[in-house]
Amino acid sequence: MTTIAVLGAGRIGESLLSGLLNTGRPPEELLFTERSPQRAAELTEQYGIEHVDVPSAARRADILVVAVKPQDIEPLLDEMVPVVAPDKLVVSLCAGLPTKVFERRFAEGTPVVRVMPNTPMLVGEAMSAISAGAHAGEAHLELVEEILGSVGRVARVPETQQDAVTALSGSGPAYFFYLVEAMVDAGILLGLPRSLAAELIVQSAVGAAAMLREGEGHPVMMREGVTSPAGTTISGIRELEKHGVRAALIDAIEAARDRSLELGRVHETDE
Ligand SMILES: NC(=O)c1ccc[n+]([C@@H]2O[C@H](COP(=O)([O-])OP(=O)(O)OC[C@H]3O[C@@H](n4cnc5c(N)ncnc54)[C@H](OP(=O)(O)O)[C@@H]3O)[C@@H](O)[C@H]2O)c1
Repeated sequence: MTTIAVLGAGRIGESLLSGLLNTGRPPEELLFTERSPQRAAELTEQYGIEHVDVPSAARRADILVVAVKPQDIEPLLDEMVPVVAPDKLVVSLCAGLPTKVFERRFAEGTPVVRVMPNTPMLVGEAMSAISAGAHAGEAHLELVEEILGSVGRVARVPETQQDAVTALSGSGPAYFFYLVEAMVDAGILLGLPRSLAAELIVQSAVGAAAMLREGEGHPVMMREGVTSPAGTTISGIRELEKHGVRAALIDAIEAARDRSLELGRVHETDE
């Protein structure tokens, strides 16, 4: 039996607990910590999972999943460091925090795995990228794959690629939301009611995503499949090219990567 404690059961922490229950993990193998007693009571009522304090989580759990906001990490580390033994696996979901931030505080040899999840975790469709710290091995990565696999898909990446991952899948959902918002606006311009425009676009997004996932071909081939000679789609594509939408997306993702690097430097200078 492997016991998992989620430290900080906010949006992401709650989604993870819920996903673990949905994939058959018994509530007795799960624990969580929370600052607000009211929220803790609500979560226990809803999921039947025990709320504990940090020393108890550190004693009873084999895996400690840190899911507080990065700006809240220092007080939590102050609580964890005296009570976390080096045989516990520490899994950080904190965006932008290098494994070094944990390793330099915990006892030598403590395994740490860094995860960059994304918001579709809330609906069990996360894309999570995981990276091993200096003391985490194959068995640790497999455990984290199993945990994150309960709320979506998981890829292994070297930690040096986490800034690129943050820009692509971390921020990615926001770019899709932005595109959907713009397309719904276009529907309104064309005289459709907002609810109908939203239904048409959201279902088109879901359908296109399902085709992409099922791997029916390369995205270019899929687009060519709906772009007939002298048809409607090519007229639209010409406007997208004229407005440099492809270049804008590439620049946007590069800017997000640069910002992630910049935020990461703050933690490096803390050393
Ligand atoms: N949401 C996303 O899209 C997303 C995507 C990728 C990564 N992440 C990462 O996931 C982590 C969690 O994000 P979130 O959106 O779930 O944040 P959140 O909703 O603010 O959840 C964090 C929870 O932890 C609690 N908390 C803070 N310090 C604590 C402590 N010392 N002990 C116990 N509980 C504590 C907070 O309580 P209070 O409310 O009282 O502060 C809150 O309930 C962040 O590090 C974020 O970078 C999030």
